[in-house]
Amino acid sequence: MGFYNDIILPRVCDLAMRNAQLRPYRERVIGAAEGLVIEIGVGSGRNLPLYRSPVKEVLALEPSPQLTAMARGALHPGMPVRFIEASAEAIPLDDQSVDTVVTTWTLCSIPDAAMALTEMRRVLRPSGKLLFVEHGMAPDRNVRRWQDWLTPAWKRISGGCHLNRPISTMIESAGFRIDRVETGYMPGPKAMTFMYEGSARPN
Ligand SMILES: C[S@@+](CC[C@H](N)C(=O)[O-])C[C@H]1O[C@@H](n2cnc3c(N)ncnc32)[C@H](O)[C@@H]1O
Repeated sequence: MGFYNDIILPRVCDLAMRNAQLRPYRERVIGAAEGLVIEIGVGSGRNLPLYRSPVKEVLALEPSPQLTAMARGALHPGMPVRFIEASAEAIPLDDQSVDTVVTTWTLCSIPDAAMALTEMRRVLRPSGKLLFVEHGMAPDRNVRRWQDWLTPAWKRISGGCHLNRPISTMIESAGFRIDRVETGYMPGPKAMTFMYEGSARPN
């Protein structure tokens, strides 16, 4: 905790997540959500204005009180949003209780991402879906080397962000079947911009 984590980091996170290049990913991912949605690591709430029917309610899970306070200012008037101050490794919801789980650029930062995905699988109804867009491990060996080399220092200044997580493999290992995944570099430094966007269902 302290000044950096409590004051600086939430503002840097908000600024970074305002990047206009992320908007088309957000629109596609949030556009596929329906029913009762839990968004994991809602941050400063950049996705919240994008939810529309057939979404009925959004449960906005976020461990940082500073980011939750920012997200409260990003609400869409017609969409009920309930904030849950908690970590994804222990989601305070019943088994099979939500229709959609959304995670956007969050799996990189969760300390125990495998546990968090197991929790997402637990709370999702058997007919539900996991919608994701995440950055992670690149396919090119030289980029991967940079990702492995940078991650120990990068995660210390970026709120725990790992550059090298194998997103699809992690999702599948938690008991999901991936229906669709599109990958590719966004403009920017290659170590930080290899994206995985898609959807998955419980096995
Ligand atoms: C890069 S930000 C992305 C925020 C948001 N998802 C977005 O798309 O703008 C990473 C988010 O992961 C959250 N996070 C970190 N550890 C977490 C955990 N254990 N459980 C849930 N969220 C976590 C951070 O607080 C932060 O909001």
